Amino acid sequence: MNQRESLPTGLPVSRDAVDDPVAATADAHAAEPQAPQQTSAPASPRAMGQSHIHESARAQVAGAAHYIDDLPEVKGTLYAAPILSTVAHGTLNSVDASAALGLPGVRGVVLSSDVPGDKLLAAFAHDEPVFAVDTVQHIGQVIGLVVADSVMQARRAVRAVKLDITPLPAVLNVHDALQAQSYVLPPVFVRRGDAATGLAQSAHRLQGAFEVGGQEHFYLEGQIAYALPLEQKQWWIYSSTQHPGEVQHWVAHALGIDNHAVKVECRRMGGGFGGKETQAGHLAVWAAVAANKFGRAVKLRLDRDEDFMVTGKRHPFAYEYDVGFDDTGRITGLKLQMAANCGFSADLSGPVADRAVFHADNAYYLSDVEIASYRCKTNTQSHTAFRGFGGPQGVIVIEAILGDIARALARDAQDVRMVNLYGKDAADGRNVTHYQMTVEDNILHALMPQLERDANYRQRQAAIAAWNATSPVLKRGLAITPVKFGISFTATLFNQAGALVHVYTDGSVQVNHGGTEMGQGLHTKVAQIVADELGVPLHRVLVTASDTSKVPNASATAASSGTDLNGRAAQFAARNVRDNLASFVCGLDGCGAGAIRFEGGQVISPKKVRAFDDVVKEAYANRIQLWSDGFYRTPKIHYDKATLTGRPFYYFSYGAACSEVVIDTLTGESRVARVDILHDVGHSINPAIDIGQIEGGFVQGMGWLTTEQLVWNDKGYLTTHAPSTYKIPATGDIPQHFKVELWPEANREDNVGGSKAVGEPPFMLAISVYEALRNAVAAGREVGSDAAAPVVLTAPATAENVLRALGKLGA
Ligand code: MTE
Ligand code: MOS
Repeated sequence: MNQRESLPTGLPVSRDAVDDPVAATADAHAAEPQAPQQTSAPASPRAMGQSHIHESARAQVAGAAHYIDDLPEVKGTLYAAPILSTVAHGTLNSVDASAALGLPGVRGVVLSSDVPGDKLLAAFAHDEPVFAVDTVQHIGQVIGLVVADSVMQARRAVRAVKLDITPLPAVLNVHDALQAQSYVLPPVFVRRGDAATGLAQSAHRLQGAFEVGGQEHFYLEGQIAYALPLEQKQWWIYSSTQHPGEVQHWVAHALGIDNHAVKVECRRMGGGFGGKETQAGHLAVWAAVAANKFGRAVKLRLDRDEDFMVTGKRHPFAYEYDVGFDDTGRITGLKLQMAANCGFSADLSGPVADRAVFHADNAYYLSDVEIASYRCKTNTQSHTAFRGFGGPQGVIVIEAILGDIARALARDAQDVRMVNLYGKDAADGRNVTHYQMTVEDNILHALMPQLERDANYRQRQAAIAAWNATSPVLKRGLAITPVKFGISFTATLFNQAGALVHVYTDGSVQVNHGGTEMGQGLHTKVAQIVADELGVPLHRVLVTASDTSKVPNASATAASSGTDLNGRAAQFAARNVRDNLASFVCGLDGCGAGAIRFEGGQVISPKKVRAFDDVVKEAYANRIQLWSDGFYRTPKIHYDKATLTGRPFYYFSYGAACSEVVIDTLTGESRVARVDILHDVGHSINPAIDIGQIEGGFVQGMGWLTTEQLVWNDKGYLTTHAPSTYKIPATGDIPQHFKVELWPEANREDNVGGSKAVGEPPFMLAISVYEALRNAVAAGREVGSDAAAPVVLTAPATAENVLRALGKLGA
């Protein structure tokens, strides 16, 4: 066995141990036996817990992995391009397409009147038209499509369409929306204890206000759908979607047909990050309505600028707070107002804003707290899910508050954070969240001090203070922030999943489950789980495209719970097949089913060792069922939507990061110099993939808080709609020292393989960068300024915003 097959199984595993996980595991794969060995010793280690290469990695780097635009097209396929509103809010008087219709290759236009079913999308709040009709609500709203023989013909013709729109007053920012009480959904208030009394009796008080910006998903594969009409009003939709089941439902609803007539398929996305949770559905509906009108297959792919203009982003948030605390920095009362800029429709804003409320405590006990959450309606794109799903917008406010408390008391922020943590266990008396869930698994009392030691936090803090004292222009900052992220969909019903496991007569295994692959490695992990359940080598297990006709009613792949849910469902399906095989072998050998082991491609009974493939062949000959379904629902969770109380989460994923930054106080530029992360994924199913998720999540969070700035002008036009003006992190932004370690403990709840979800939680570790930047700003303020005063740094911390925080630019 190639020694490089796996990481050392003794955790913690550091990134340094897998400096080239792809190469390491690729070698190992090539060396894997092609047929199970016929010896009695287990031929291969378990697949779970090993750094196996992503199932598509090789195909992806070779350009051989198919995305929707790579699929062979059916004869007669037509192409669509969207007609976009040029006004943020207005009355749509007319659409004049006559000039466009005369252009070469143009087949026609598609408008609201062409929608055969409901002209509103089947979205949760039912507040969004398929195509704008009568009124337009943001610049970039889709009014219709031009359909042509080629993409370029369609896009050229769109420019010839004349829109007659009478402008109406538009609400363009969250402050105006609050003022006008312009909401997509009613405000929500959550209270625990008595915030007013807590504040009145506090030894110290601080008030503050700040804002964080939104974020474009910038998936590498833009939004796309390909709709194929089949016979008898049946449909095949290829959609780059995190939620094929919802795309199916939306398409059926818009076409006025049954769900069973629509099959939605997605092999993989080139990234989703939440941006394809609902909004992929729009594209599919638009393509399907066009295909329905022309009776031809229609492909719709947005180009990058259109994607920016049409689709929603992370919700920008504005905060106001009043906090009371004691001499140690412990919070004794908090009133917090969070206003989410939701854009023109509800989309997922309700659950996103709820999750922000659920994470406004992050890892800290708030005895007396009052949170007001406003879901503001503005005339911009409809903001949507984005990695963390409102969690980051909740966590950042409490971390900022704690940073300012530390400054006010001239105490180290790490000490202030520690003194505010939830208790170690339920007996502590400081373990019930503001939404009435008991925190039973708080590992931060051990994890944070461990990171503090590993990263040399105290020594570096002292060294940085000394350095800052003599450095006139450059200032450094250091901060540790933790994360405690609730795992489960807050909407309890979504916490269910199904899977199918097929064993073919040659012993090869095919898995299909309700989850989708967006690069996060879900299919790889599910294959590992199934391989171990059947005791076969990983290469014998193939996970196939997500397909609504195989596993129905699947939830979105979101809330980081893809593996928890689908991995377990697939494990149960595989277990059913294994049980069938075990009883069959027991019949042959006359033993109890519990005595049979499945390992290393073998089926081992007390009497005889057989190759798995041979058992499968024999079982087939004896008419034993070789395939099964599996179903899983998360236990223990419940929650009251009206009061936002209960146990919305099965467990929490934890972590902490220590980030060091340097700012230039003359230009406002900044760099992240060093990052140390200690993160909790339970018992990792695949350390290389998990570490990749941690690195990727962190860097994406860094982008949100540093360089990714969305600028809407005073007409509501998004001026930063391409990579020329919208800056995601590049390789040069990766800190020179970037170390990730995994916390060694298994999930204390019974989750698949003892693992924990990893997709979103590390995103919030980037808040340590924001806190480090604020510390550097504090060190860089004018001599004689009040060192205890809060640092107001608007996120993202662009050069301009850093200069503003330093007091060197106007507001
Ligand atoms: N990783 C990659 N490479 N691409 C993605 O689009 N999406 C993130 C995260 N990691 C994403 C990703 C988001 S928003 C979520 S909710 C989870 O993956 C979803 O997948 P999981 O539940 O299987 O972790
Ligand atoms: Mo992720 S924001 O839950 O798709």
